[in-house]
Amino acid sequence: MPTAHPQWQVLHSLAADSNLPTLAELVLQPRPQLVRAAAGLTADLQKQRINEQVLTALIELADASGLEQAKADLFAGEKINRSENRAVGHTALRTPQALLSQRLAAGSANSLRAEQVSAEVHSSRQAMATFTNAVVNGQWRGITGQTIDTVINIGIGGSHLGPELAISALAGANGLPVRFLSNVDGDNLQRCLTNANPARTLFIIASKSFSTQETAVNAQAARSWFLERTGSLAGIEQHFVAVTNNLDAAAKFGIPASNLFSMSDWVGGRYSLWSAVGLAIALGIGWSQFQRLLAGAAAMDEHFLRAEPVANIPVLMALAGIWNTNFLGCETLAILPYDDRLRLLPDFLQQLEMESNGKRVRQDGSVVDYHTSPIIWGGRGTNGQHAFHQLLHQGTRRFCADFVLCREASHGHGRHHQTLLANALAQSQALASGRQHDDSHRVVPGGNPSTTLVLDRLAPENLGALLAAYEHKVFCQGVIWHINSFDQWGVELGKELAGPIQAELAGSESHDQDAATRALIDLLLSR
Ligand code: F6P
Repeated sequence: MPTAHPQWQVLHSLAADSNLPTLAELVLQPRPQLVRAAAGLTADLQKQRINEQVLTALIELADASGLEQAKADLFAGEKINRSENRAVGHTALRTPQALLSQRLAAGSANSLRAEQVSAEVHSSRQAMATFTNAVVNGQWRGITGQTIDTVINIGIGGSHLGPELAISALAGANGLPVRFLSNVDGDNLQRCLTNANPARTLFIIASKSFSTQETAVNAQAARSWFLERTGSLAGIEQHFVAVTNNLDAAAKFGIPASNLFSMSDWVGGRYSLWSAVGLAIALGIGWSQFQRLLAGAAAMDEHFLRAEPVANIPVLMALAGIWNTNFLGCETLAILPYDDRLRLLPDFLQQLEMESNGKRVRQDGSVVDYHTSPIIWGGRGTNGQHAFHQLLHQGTRRFCADFVLCREASHGHGRHHQTLLANALAQSQALASGRQHDDSHRVVPGGNPSTTLVLDRLAPENLGALLAAYEHKVFCQGVIWHINSFDQWGVELGKELAGPIQAELAGSESHDQDAATRALIDLLLSR
């Protein structure tokens, strides 16, 4: 366990040491060793309360936790998702083919087989490319012979968040408009279907398990909507495709074999935007842009694998997070994108970080006695400054923040961009240094750590690199906390409980319920 490493105690002593410089003191001196660039992304950790001693102890902690071996296992496709007895292979999805065989060949007898995975990845990419180009270029036709003008992605969690983030960040002239039907809420359904022409709409049912209730209800509703308007069962073939690991269930739903895009067992939902789950992205931004997204992630993978811990962006992000969470008492991590196109980044990272590392038992089943994932939240700048930043500057809770900015804008509004960036820097400055004042109402205490991530520009490569950096950060933290970042047993209980409650709301069955839930059921059923 991490607390058994001597470095854990060293870090506690350093955090408690009154000689540890304050953040306000630290930011007065340049610390270039805390600024690292790779794959079009610069991570600037100079506004973290980290000095040489702290950094050394953190790196030693990572080392003592076996991070290098864990990295090797990840890239070799080992079965590191132990509670589900699954290999973890999402990095394979973006690795160039020649390199992939080499990486997987380093694995054990238990790891993913190089030739098989290479062939799977290659054929999936081929199928995605062919389909994307046919739809985007207008060769794929709907039942009336017209081209597709709207794509509706039906999926939730990992089958939604990455694709919607990527499209809102990158959508341009090269793809089709994509709508997202994720929530099992009639309003979401109605919004997606409003003004959609069934003869020109393509539905993607994205679900690794093909058993997620929300997606099943939405897929059935979309199918009925299509059939009611076209009366053509045969038309399903031109208007419905599925991305899944459960090909039988998708076939049972009525998706023809030619429209099935398979997703491997070794791709976790929240790590799946690089797989066929990215079909919505490819359709929304065009195939060549999607490939650039993969290339950016691959470049970050290479950096993560090769760079020394002290110069390794995901490792440094992870260590800053461990320091803030476990030693400086930060409870939350605010994600503050200062670029409107990245407004969905906090939502995406909520699943990536909290579903991965929101765990209370270690790999061996023992209960942790230290904090794991912080609560991830946030919102775009500058809007957040006029909403929740007051609490950041003068509230009572400890938090840390990631500012995410793009050095170059892609619009021609220079003054806007300057103003946006100036505000981002001013906010991290105020969070770090605060302000003294005679009037206590105006005192801003400062001392709140942040990392600033600067993308050269928001091109597909840069987004790919950013998301891969966060994936690896989460991975490193999971290794140090000794938890399994790739399962999600906690979400199952709620799913199980919803069934009997729904039967009661439908008036069809009665079940044992606690009194509080019973009262709410009665309230919802009352007229
Ligand atoms: O919320 C739990 C979860 O299993 C996520 O891990 C996953 O991304 C999401 O549900 C959707 O699952 P599926 O792609 O199987 O529909």
